[in-house]
Amino acid sequence: MDPKAVAAEKAVEYIENGMVVGLGTGSTSYHAIRKIGERVSQGLRIRAVASSAKSEQLARECRIPLAAFTAIDHIDITIDGADEVDRQLNLIKGGGGALLREKILAYNSKQTIIIVDDSKLVDTLGKFPLPIEVTPFAVELTLAQLERLKGNPYIRMAQSERFVTDNGNLIIDCHFDAIRAPEELNTKLHLIPGVIETGLFLHTPFTRVIAGYADGATQILGA
Ligand code: 5RP
Repeated sequence: MDPKAVAAEKAVEYIENGMVVGLGTGSTSYHAIRKIGERVSQGLRIRAVASSAKSEQLARECRIPLAAFTAIDHIDITIDGADEVDRQLNLIKGGGGALLREKILAYNSKQTIIIVDDSKLVDTLGKFPLPIEVTPFAVELTLAQLERLKGNPYIRMAQSERFVTDNGNLIIDCHFDAIRAPEELNTKLHLIPGVIETGLFLHTPFTRVIAGYADGATQILGA
């Protein structure tokens, strides 16, 4: 079995009638959105908001009712993937480039469920490059600041062009190897003008992580 689909299927069980649901981005969230679509076709009544244009498009294809942000005042549950999860449930996210919108949804959700395959569970964050969303203006200067922090930074490319986020920004991927003090690093990164948001998700309120395994088992970490 696909462990991503296993985790996604379990997470979707937490959705109830009447909820406002935040939709994540990426290949694991893809499975969740498809499953939510299935439940909607069977009568589940929800409204959803998406963390990327791609997930919004998929939600439309799955006939999931979408709400405008002007029409909601809260999000009940967000289901999203992650690139790494440590034992304190700190995350690296943004491999798909949607970290800013994902963080806004997670921060404003009563409950966030992170769905991963078991390979994403780590002792220390940092093997996966840390994505940082930055303004395109003077990106070379922002890059130089990240070099000073020993981030070994690279501007993300898509084919031969710079990757552009749904917000019109760029992503710089940093290679810190081992992030032993994620809060300290996050604070330093946010002090750099030009950094809009980082892929470090620390103390996201009400985070529960569901890890899926190839044998169909799931492991639930957190609340
Ligand atoms: C997108 C993300 C994704 O959730 C993360 O990259 C995991 O992706 P996948 O589910 O494809 O492994 O943060 O910005």
